[in-house]
Amino acid sequence: MKRIYLDNAATTKPRSEVIEAMLPYQTEKYGNPSSLHSMGREAAEAMEESRATIAKHLGSKPEEIYFVASGTEANNTVLKGVAFQKKKGHIITQTTEHDCVINATKWLGSQGFDITFLDVDDKGVVHEDTLREAMRDDTILVSIMAANNEIGTIQAINRLGAIAHEGKALFHTDAVQAFGKMPLSLENIDFLSASAHKLYGPRGVGFLFKRDGVWITPLLHGGGHERGLRSSTENVAGIVGFAKATELAFAEMGSEAAREIALRDSLIKGVLEIKDSWLNGHPTNRLPNNANFGFRFIEGEGLVLRLDLKGIEASTGSACSSKNLRPSHVLTSMGLKAEDAHGSLRLTLGRESTKADMDYVLEMLPGVVESLRAMSPLTE
Ligand SMILES: Cc1ncc(COP(=O)(O)O)c(C=O)c1O
Repeated sequence: MKRIYLDNAATTKPRSEVIEAMLPYQTEKYGNPSSLHSMGREAAEAMEESRATIAKHLGSKPEEIYFVASGTEANNTVLKGVAFQKKKGHIITQTTEHDCVINATKWLGSQGFDITFLDVDDKGVVHEDTLREAMRDDTILVSIMAANNEIGTIQAINRLGAIAHEGKALFHTDAVQAFGKMPLSLENIDFLSASAHKLYGPRGVGFLFKRDGVWITPLLHGGGHERGLRSSTENVAGIVGFAKATELAFAEMGSEAAREIALRDSLIKGVLEIKDSWLNGHPTNRLPNNANFGFRFIEGEGLVLRLDLKGIEASTGSACSSKNLRPSHVLTSMGLKAEDAHGSLRLTLGRESTKADMDYVLEMLPGVVESLRAMSPLTE
């Protein structure tokens, strides 16, 4: 059976160019970049070239890019690194962040830091006044994601960053879903997190942008790699793959975004013809590849399993929460009732998605929804 992969927010298929670029660093060029011999120097050179490539596309200096193992690690490094450096204070984030930000800040709360979770509106947007009102003299850090992994809503990170800076706080953005998919400006940003596996790169490598002149306490102590911020022998092959994925994503960003938006919008239009359905998240200010729907009277898990039987790979919410039966914290934060949040379906397009894929989903989905509703105790 043909498989249609519409779970690109969970992870993406590594591009063949990426695998090709990585391969020599897993086979004959396996040197440790800290070694002085020629194979070590060759690895160090590849790593520094990759850093320069990523920096060029992000608009930073190469030395402001720190390689880590994941988006989760980049986010934890900032949140805990700032907290440990400042020793006390107030941290602001918001209710629809990824679990790694929510749980790291909750943990910091248990260690004596004051935490504020800003509310979002019914489209998942954090308002500037909400942040302005929450700022305090002792606010040390504000962390607001660039774009949401479940509903795709894009935040005004530069304006929010400016408000954090007016109050002398540092500003971090989790750009794991946004990097490579939309333009990002570093104007009011001190820290930015990204992860290779969301943009057709390998799993297990991410980067943290940290503005020059801002220092944070490292989480890992060891041999002093990554200029003392992240000790551990570097994942050279992964880093080379990340740079290749970045280069390709930025070269195609405008055209690919326009292509995905057209497909996404045709999908949204077709799906909303199903009775008792709605779109979650912002109608226009959302990631080009994200469509998240609600269907009254059914469970998202049932929907995902039925679609899987038809060859469609989808998700109910974020990859981390899709195996537990709690309603999505993102959807309930936007004001959805728990039973409506349960009936959600996330379809995230990618570079291999086609019009024929959208047509197939639109052919299959109404019948699947109808059959689940027919046996649902919730149906009126
Ligand atoms: C917005 C966001 N932040 C952080 C992460 C975690 O990234 P990683 O899987 O690289 O740890 C994800 C992954 O789903 C994400 O979507």
